[in-house]
Amino acid sequence: MENLSFPREFLWGVSTSAFQIEGAVDEGGRGPSIWDTFTKTPGKIANGEHARVAADHYHRYPEDVALMSDLGVGAYRFSFAWPRILPDGKGAPNAEGLAFYDRLIDSVCEAGIAPVATLYHWDTPQPVEDAGGWLVRDTAEWFAEYAAVMGERFADRVKMWIPLNEPMVMSIYGYAIGEYAPGKALLLDAVPTAHHQNLAHGLAVQALRAAGAASIGTANNHSPVWPETGTEPENAAARWLDALLNRLYADPVLLGRYPGELVEHLPAGFADDLPTIAQPLDFYGVNYYEPQGVKAPGPGNPLPFELRPIEGFPMTTNDSPIVPHALRDLLLDFQGRYADRLPPIYLTENGCSFDDRVAEEGGVRDPERIDFLVEHLSAVRAAMDAGVDVRGYFVWSLLDNFEWSKGYAPRFGLVHVDYETLRRTPKDSFAWYRKLVRDD
Ligand code: FCB
Repeated sequence: MENLSFPREFLWGVSTSAFQIEGAVDEGGRGPSIWDTFTKTPGKIANGEHARVAADHYHRYPEDVALMSDLGVGAYRFSFAWPRILPDGKGAPNAEGLAFYDRLIDSVCEAGIAPVATLYHWDTPQPVEDAGGWLVRDTAEWFAEYAAVMGERFADRVKMWIPLNEPMVMSIYGYAIGEYAPGKALLLDAVPTAHHQNLAHGLAVQALRAAGAASIGTANNHSPVWPETGTEPENAAARWLDALLNRLYADPVLLGRYPGELVEHLPAGFADDLPTIAQPLDFYGVNYYEPQGVKAPGPGNPLPFELRPIEGFPMTTNDSPIVPHALRDLLLDFQGRYADRLPPIYLTENGCSFDDRVAEEGGVRDPERIDFLVEHLSAVRAAMDAGVDVRGYFVWSLLDNFEWSKGYAPRFGLVHVDYETLRRTPKDSFAWYRKLVRDD
């Protein structure tokens, strides 16, 4: 029997991001982002889908806040769209953009829900990309200016701040293999984008602290790396991939140093930035979806590792193997690695996609999602029992949304969205989570 009893003060939440739900890309003075450009590029998004409307949250946020209020969560993690605030990436802030987030945050607060704000969830303003994006150091400085604007405006209401969401995904998917915007395929030449994002994180933490922000952390995607055979070439490949996926962000932020494997790929002078990057944090956000299989590189492979699919587990419709115990292992491993440098942990994202449909009799039956949540929360509970300080859990996601290059097919929400009518239908997992967070 799973143990799903959590401390009274455990923070239950749901997560979303701006580009995936807001729509209204040409409204309210918003400028273009790299994802607007990418979705217009033929062949980049499944079925040629785009996010001009998405879940229309920009207009329907009162309904979405009402859903969260019914759900009974204590916190809502969302992201600000940088191109709504600074359409040119820098300069004078757009008053209409700030006013939208005023309305959203005020209504979240009125519902008794704590706003948890991410400053950047991959929607770089196109002019910033045109000036070099994360390949250039200036972007970190522009990001710090943006962070200062947001801190000054919202520090009075936002309870927890996350400067960047998953810089690893931006570096690897956006700049190393080009599956996500801005669509560059630079392989290891993309490593400087990790450093510039880490620097942006550190500078933003400083700017937010100066603005009086209450609690500041980060949100990184972490995937335990699984070699298959345990031979030395394979273990070496696993160490390398672990450095690339997991430690390239966590080590400089928490320990003030980079994993040795990657040092030769970093920009010159990177070491001078390490004290800025390693700002003390109030919490560390872990986003967990799946482990990653690895093997030794075959002949002719330019990389020191090769990815290998993990077999023998049930899969989501986003092609993720469902491996709850890897979440417990990851949390314990984290505790071991970072020990007293590790602030309290929040699971800032965890969730799954299935082929959810509205039933003829109404409602959405999604028993697989309920099982997923039960098993992953049990894994979190087990890690807590083993001494890991986990303070909260956010389901990805409140709503079905635009899942980047996969378009709308993978449905991650506790609430189903009909993209024709934009009608919201809470799924069975919504009722299940509602009971859990209200009873706990
Ligand atoms: C995470 C992203 C989030 C969503 C989920 C499924 O890596 O942060 O936007 O796409 O994956």
